[in-house]
Amino acid sequence: MKTLSKIALIMVVSASLVGCFNKNKPNYQFFPNMYVSPSYDTYGAYEIFPNEQSAMLPVENTIPRGFKPYELEHSYEGYQASKDILDFPIEVNEKNLTTGSQLFTLYCAVCHGDKGDGKGILVEREKFLGVPSFADQGREIVPGRVYHVQTYGLNTMGSYASQVNSEERWQIAMHVMDLKAQLNGTPGILETAAQNQNNTVQETESDVADSEETQSN
Ligand code: HEC
Repeated sequence: MKTLSKIALIMVVSASLVGCFNKNKPNYQFFPNMYVSPSYDTYGAYEIFPNEQSAMLPVENTIPRGFKPYELEHSYEGYQASKDILDFPIEVNEKNLTTGSQLFTLYCAVCHGDKGDGKGILVEREKFLGVPSFADQGREIVPGRVYHVQTYGLNTMGSYASQVNSEERWQIAMHVMDLKAQLNGTPGILETAAQNQNNTVQETESDVADSEETQSN
């Protein structure tokens, strides 16, 4: 009997406690310090910020992770200077060339054509005109130039800087230089790179031979 009344008492107490709970009101908070976050909403207006906006511009000269600054400006002078960049900052190898070729098909071939002859599908359907061939004698198609026009665009051709990152633009430029070589019937970019390497090795070897000669004299 005693236990029964105890159980009844417990039930009454817990029922009265639970019964008072109102779902529409916040519950009791113990140590509320961490419940209510002092952080600001992303686009909230707060006095503490300049312009009273929590969304602020990044600090000047901030660059995204993995971003490589490019020293030439988006100007006529920058465009002119880009033709003097004749080397790639990344290694000329099959992997980079293949990636470049895939990206070219994705982003550039609609206008420039798979072969780089300026006869992409948009040109054939007369949706876009004035697309040059990479073998065009009047144009200085060199690695830096191809990188530059992808970065900033050129007249009716838009910039691709938001679609492809710096490394990818160099990879695409590599493929463009390869297409130019194919159009001109000159050795491809991998062949040229291998030949240049051989030359450098031979040069260093002959340098070593020269210095050995001088030493023996
Ligand atoms: C929507 C069509 C279109 C697409 C897509 C396009 N281009 Fe072009 N491209 C043009 C046109 C038009 C020109 C000629 C611009 C001029 O000289 O006024 C041009 C010019 C060029 C030139 C020659 C620049 C020079 O200095 O003469 C290169 C190199 C080039 N594009 C590379 C690319 C690469 C690489 C891509 C892909 C990332 C690409 N283009 C995507 C339309 C396009």
